[in-house]
Amino acid sequence: MAMAELLNPKNTDAFPLVITPGACSGDFGNDLAIGIQKQKLWLEGQLFGSPGAILFRGFSVSNAEEFARVVEAFGYESMGYRAGAATRKHLVGPVYTNNALDSETELGFHNEMSYLADYPDLVVFFCEVAPPPSAGGATGIVQGKAIYNRIKKEFPEFTEDLENKGLVYYNLRSEESWKKVYETNDRAEAEAKAQILSRTLLWLDDGGVKEILSKGTRKGIRELDSGVHGNNKVWFNSIGSAKPWFPQFQYFEFSDGSKLPAKAVEAALKIMDEEQVSVEWQAGDIVVMNNHSVLHKKHAAAPNTPRKILVSMLKTSGAPV
Ligand SMILES: [Fe+2]
Repeated sequence: MAMAELLNPKNTDAFPLVITPGACSGDFGNDLAIGIQKQKLWLEGQLFGSPGAILFRGFSVSNAEEFARVVEAFGYESMGYRAGAATRKHLVGPVYTNNALDSETELGFHNEMSYLADYPDLVVFFCEVAPPPSAGGATGIVQGKAIYNRIKKEFPEFTEDLENKGLVYYNLRSEESWKKVYETNDRAEAEAKAQILSRTLLWLDDGGVKEILSKGTRKGIRELDSGVHGNNKVWFNSIGSAKPWFPQFQYFEFSDGSKLPAKAVEAALKIMDEEQVSVEWQAGDIVVMNNHSVLHKKHAAAPNTPRKILVSMLKTSGAPV
């Protein structure tokens, strides 16, 4: 079906697949929501298999309500943002603000909410206000399979440990911080509130707390369901956005308490940057990605750069992601 063009002509994998009204031979028309409804099966093939990410560009979508209509056209369940680490505000239907980071702050590669037991199957971004050209603020995306394949070659033990031992993600909070976050001075009350968010609190001698972000271990390498991906193993974690690499975010360790090998992590960060495709936002752009097989990153922009990206997180319940 000839309905796509390449974002970067050198990128022969067409990752992400770019769909514009003009490139669609009329199949999508100009109304993206109707186009999605008509082409849902074909789109699912692109999202649940390869390339795993689609950029819709040039359609007339200009605000949260219109974005909500496009997201709802997929017919999936909105996940909301319970227990997530960022600050997001609900706007309308399945639409939330993105995290409230300063424009100059970079947020490294991660699968959305992969530090939790429950995470979205699809992540959808919408650019309401695009940063000016060359101000920065692009969103990088990269396929987890490409990262896994390269890291495994260089650091096979690391990928085995990520898969078999798995990861624990946590925050370290000072006494002042946990009292503020849980809105109490009482440890038992803080523990009860933490439990509702699937967090476990381990008290430290200095009055602070180690806040484990979700019960149990998270696999850092996942095997995707079904045979549609060929070699099904993918990099699936939030290492790229965690401390100590990005000091404002959470820490991680292997589930047995051992530390991750710094050299291997540094190599992984480099590989992610090398393999990424940068989506330089234009107002109205919508990027849909398979959160199991594609990671994303927020690039830094100049201070106070205008940039407004909205997000929807969806569960596809049972579709072969
Ligand atoms: Fe994210």
